[in-house]
Amino acid sequence: MRLIFIGPPGVGKGTQAKFLVEQFSIPQISTGDMLREHVRNQTELGIEAKTCMDAGKLVPDSVILEMIKSRFTEDDCQHGYILDGFPRTIPQAEGLDFILEGLNQKLDSVVVLEVADSIIIHRLSSRRSCRGCGRVYNLLFDPPQTAGKCNECNEELYLRDDDNPDIIQQRLSVYHEQTAPVIEHYAQQNLTKSIEAAGSIEDIKSTVMAALS
Ligand code: AP5
Repeated sequence: MRLIFIGPPGVGKGTQAKFLVEQFSIPQISTGDMLREHVRNQTELGIEAKTCMDAGKLVPDSVILEMIKSRFTEDDCQHGYILDGFPRTIPQAEGLDFILEGLNQKLDSVVVLEVADSIIIHRLSSRRSCRGCGRVYNLLFDPPQTAGKCNECNEELYLRDDDNPDIIQQRLSVYHEQTAPVIEHYAQQNLTKSIEAAGSIEDIKSTVMAALS
């Protein structure tokens, strides 16, 4: 199964993708997580990407496409994957079409998660991520058992640098301008499944599973 998850920042792409990893035994490929790993390791790519990420802007298409091309060569991608947060621009979508053609692969579905901007701001300002294993929590909707600590590895939880209100607004503008047109790119290929993502995490999980079965 080869899937794409598209939707505004904080709509729940990562949260829902993780359920499908278990269900279909395929990896979640999150360009955001890959970039944050580069930032943590202070690689050349990470240092360049951090400036864009902290400003709520997109990292250049060429950097992202190289990263994806290299990720696709890894063994765990041979039976499928969930692309989370990629492609995010029309050049990235066209670049992915080209890569897939070269690999003789086709996408199965593009899951489009949709929710009002006001809900996004609420969700992102209460998101916390684990410094150790990366697990994502929400102080309002999915809190950890012990305040400030990860249930899985007991490491510290933190607020992402780009989850402050000004940067969230900037990320939403970038989404509406540059990423929303990607949905039309895939609608023309009859691949999109639109999901209203305003309900609870469990309800949305059921809707996504039903849409893919
Ligand atoms: P990235 O990390 O991809 O961020 P994003 O797309 O903005 O998405 P998020 O990770 O913020 O949100 P999500 O939809 O996964 O939501 P989550 O499940 O965590 O990218 C960060 C930056 O990297 C970009 O700004 C850009 O600079 C760069 N970048 C990345 N990819 C790129 C690319 N392809 N091209 C160029 N640049 C790129 O949920 C959010 C919160 O809500 C959590 O707390 C969760 O618990 C909670 N929640 C989830 N669902 C629900 C629900 N139904 N009800 C209540 N709470 C919920």
